[in-house]
Amino acid sequence: MKDLAQVKQRIEQLRAQINYHNYRYYVLDSPEISDAEYDLLMRDLQQLEEEYPQFLTPDSPTQRVGAAPVEAFGVVEHPLPLLSLGNAFSQEELLAWYTRALKLVAEQRFKFVCEHKIDGLAVALTYVNGQLTTGATRGDGFRGENITQNLRTIRSIPLSVPKEAPPRFEVRGEVFLPKAGFHKLNQERAKEGLPLFANPRNAAAGSVRQLDPRITAKRPLDIYIYMLGYAEGKATPPTHWETTEYLKSLGFKVNPNNSLLANIEQVEQYHQTWVERRESLPYEADGIVVKVDSLKLQRQLGSIGHEPRWAIAYKFPAIQGTTRLVDIGISVGRTGTLNPYAILEPISVGGVTIRQAALHNEDDVRRKDIRINDTVIVQRAGEVIPEVVGPVTSKRTGQEKEFNLLKKIFDKVKKRPACPVCGAEVIKPEGEVMYYCSNAACPAQVHERLQHFTSRGGMDIRGIGESQSAMLLREGLVKNIADLYDLKDKKEQLTKLERMAEKNVTNMLNAIEKSKETPLARVIFALGIRHIGEEMAELLAKHFGSVGRLQNASKEELLSVPTVGPKIADSIIAFFGREENRRIIDRLRKAGVRLEEEAARPLEELPLAGQEFVITGRLETFSRQEAEARIKALGGTAKSDVTTKTTYLVVGADPGSKLARAQALGTKQLTEEELLQLLGK
Ligand code: IVH
Repeated sequence: MKDLAQVKQRIEQLRAQINYHNYRYYVLDSPEISDAEYDLLMRDLQQLEEEYPQFLTPDSPTQRVGAAPVEAFGVVEHPLPLLSLGNAFSQEELLAWYTRALKLVAEQRFKFVCEHKIDGLAVALTYVNGQLTTGATRGDGFRGENITQNLRTIRSIPLSVPKEAPPRFEVRGEVFLPKAGFHKLNQERAKEGLPLFANPRNAAAGSVRQLDPRITAKRPLDIYIYMLGYAEGKATPPTHWETTEYLKSLGFKVNPNNSLLANIEQVEQYHQTWVERRESLPYEADGIVVKVDSLKLQRQLGSIGHEPRWAIAYKFPAIQGTTRLVDIGISVGRTGTLNPYAILEPISVGGVTIRQAALHNEDDVRRKDIRINDTVIVQRAGEVIPEVVGPVTSKRTGQEKEFNLLKKIFDKVKKRPACPVCGAEVIKPEGEVMYYCSNAACPAQVHERLQHFTSRGGMDIRGIGESQSAMLLREGLVKNIADLYDLKDKKEQLTKLERMAEKNVTNMLNAIEKSKETPLARVIFALGIRHIGEEMAELLAKHFGSVGRLQNASKEELLSVPTVGPKIADSIIAFFGREENRRIIDRLRKAGVRLEEEAARPLEELPLAGQEFVITGRLETFSRQEAEARIKALGGTAKSDVTTKTTYLVVGADPGSKLARAQALGTKQLTEEELLQLLGK
């Protein structure tokens, strides 16, 4: 048995190291070590905590995600209400605010702090005796939701602060999803057939208000702290600027674009600068927040209702433009949804030419009263798909036509609405706003499904992009995803196709062959079951371990998986209920696509089951991590320290102190060569 005091010391040392590197990476954006080195530290700590659970503490960096899902969030009363902000939309309005403030106080020289008004959601974080105890949403300003477990998963939020910090204090800040993360999340949701988040704000709010912290943990959320709510038991600085500097020194992440400015002219300049440069920011901001720097002045100015007189949001002009709506087209999605979209007279909005824009669904078109021939306002929201905000009714001429989806797709010969691509019957499931093409073999649907199947998040078959799948379908070489695996017998036909040199064909076939080893979660995602995105597919893969078991699961079994609700359960059952899909899955299986988790075999049957390995020194044939991964794949475990439970110590070049310990304990030793033999290579 190891000396317990020593273990504890090592654990504390590891935690301090990891916290430091977390801070470098997530708060300062300036890492000092590689991800792999970081992972090693983290794993060492995890192993020690597993072995010595008596030393586990809630502020350990291993404990960010770990809480179980909740039924609902609790309520948090804010000791000091969270205010909102008044708006200024022009220079005149900014000056009006400033003039009003001047009249209210004796001082006639104000310094200001300007910050970006980030589009996210406000949170309040309470620290007691150095530990993060509560994280809450703003709610109505007086009472918010307790989302502590979710906020703990955000790496730029410190779980603990230095002992110099006040014994009790609250900081406030904006949790947000950077543009890149927002973009990626919406792409995933589009693939899953889920409704898209309208903007990063909704996406951040949706991510933070997940009942399962594991889902929040997967969203790349970040935070900027923008003020101190209150602090007890210790004096804090007298100005806003110094306060944010002080918060930085406690480890909080403060926006580096904040500026301390001497007068209102400089505020105007700051605003102008960022109007021009907002596109280059990694996050979405809809304006700046102007704050009076002196906290004494802030107190004197006070607030009216919810809005402080000492701060104001000075908005950026929206990225919008107006143009004519030429027509409304209909596209067919992967799951058969008929999606209306706006066909526009081309217009440049913020430097990007827009020809088409999203209209979501028919209800949306009706609610906004958008008519064909209308002059419409187009907005590039969050730099994703541009959308039609609404009509400019004052510009109506009487030539506008109301849009009716069913009329638009009415087939005069068949005397009924029909899919604009394949002519099949159109259905509208109860309770849904979308119409669907009822024909699973509709070429538009098959094309979208094929795209989805081969996409990166799916089977990742390079060499089959948009144009190749269209060609394969057109030529009749592929009618569904299973046909891809028969292409190897059609090499000759493939080489005859346009822009398909022998080399392209070989690459494509190799990629198809390689995809047979795709991990189960991605296979489940690639099948394109409605409402099953990457995250859900991962949960299902873990829970069921094979496509077969998922296919045979009853509704009750499906509902017993955390976060699977009736909508998802029904969708899975409907998918596997279809004869066509079952046939495709059988064919995938016969073609050799792995439809099982690699380690689905019971652990005890694996060759290295029950054997514990520790590696010391440098290995020649592979990295330590690869070696450990291979050991684990064969059922063994890999640990960082030699104990009486260790089966083998693998000794590489320049072994460390572990060798002496193994000798003392009489642990069996392996050379790298012997390990390779054990691993079957
Ligand atoms: S200060 C009284 N600073 O804007 C001061 N707010 O309408 C209140 N926001 O709910 C907040 N960035 O979510 C402040 N740098 C910033 C901000 C910011 C975004 C949001 C915040 C708040 C809303 C106020």
